[in-house]
Amino acid sequence: MKGVIFNAVEDAVVDLYSEDVWDDLLEAAQLDGHYTSLGNYDDADLSALVAAACPMTGHEPDELVRVLGRHAFPHLAGRYPELIADADSTHDFLRQVNDIIHPEVLKLHPDARPPAFDFEDRPDNVLRVTYRSERRLGALAEGLILGAGDRFNEHVEVTVVSGHGEAVTVFDVKATRLAPTGS
Ligand code: HEM
Repeated sequence: MKGVIFNAVEDAVVDLYSEDVWDDLLEAAQLDGHYTSLGNYDDADLSALVAAACPMTGHEPDELVRVLGRHAFPHLAGRYPELIADADSTHDFLRQVNDIIHPEVLKLHPDARPPAFDFEDRPDNVLRVTYRSERRLGALAEGLILGAGDRFNEHVEVTVVSGHGEAVTVFDVKATRLAPTGS
């Protein structure tokens, strides 16, 4: 996995906890933590960090990955400002991740392997999203989707329809626009 994902996860841990907690996690997971954005690192490092963080935070692994994904999103997006086109809703943005952002990531980093998504519009503001990746990181996708909802000021509910923790996971993503603050 690209170092930029580890960098965004580190930023999320520091936001939610502290620099010290990140250092403790690296120590507990026996990792040196020198992740450069362009480097490629073992996927097992991410699992080791999650395994170390669960007892420290009291979260179950999936919940922790969701929380970290949600808080990693603004940092990940901030590292590729030129890729964040002018989507105006979470659903539009998710389509852009698949059609524009991840393909652009692949041009910049030909050795990256971002996941693939399929989409289906459903009634009641629901976008059905099918995640495909041998990495089985659907929980990370869920967290990033929630983070995208925060960015677009929408209340987003993600329901797993099938394939929890599998290489193919189907989600229903229901998005509801929040009232502007101050009105
Ligand atoms: C600003 C927007 C985004 C950027 C720049 C971005 C970029 C990336 C990059 C660089 C990777 C690493 C790929 C690798 O190392 O092989 C990645 C992986 C991933 N991305 Fe995105 N991403 C973005 C948004 C999203 C969103 C909104 C989702 C959720 C739908 C998502 C889901 C994932 C997942 C789950 C992975 C982990 C790899 C896997 O599951 O196979 N990304 N992304």
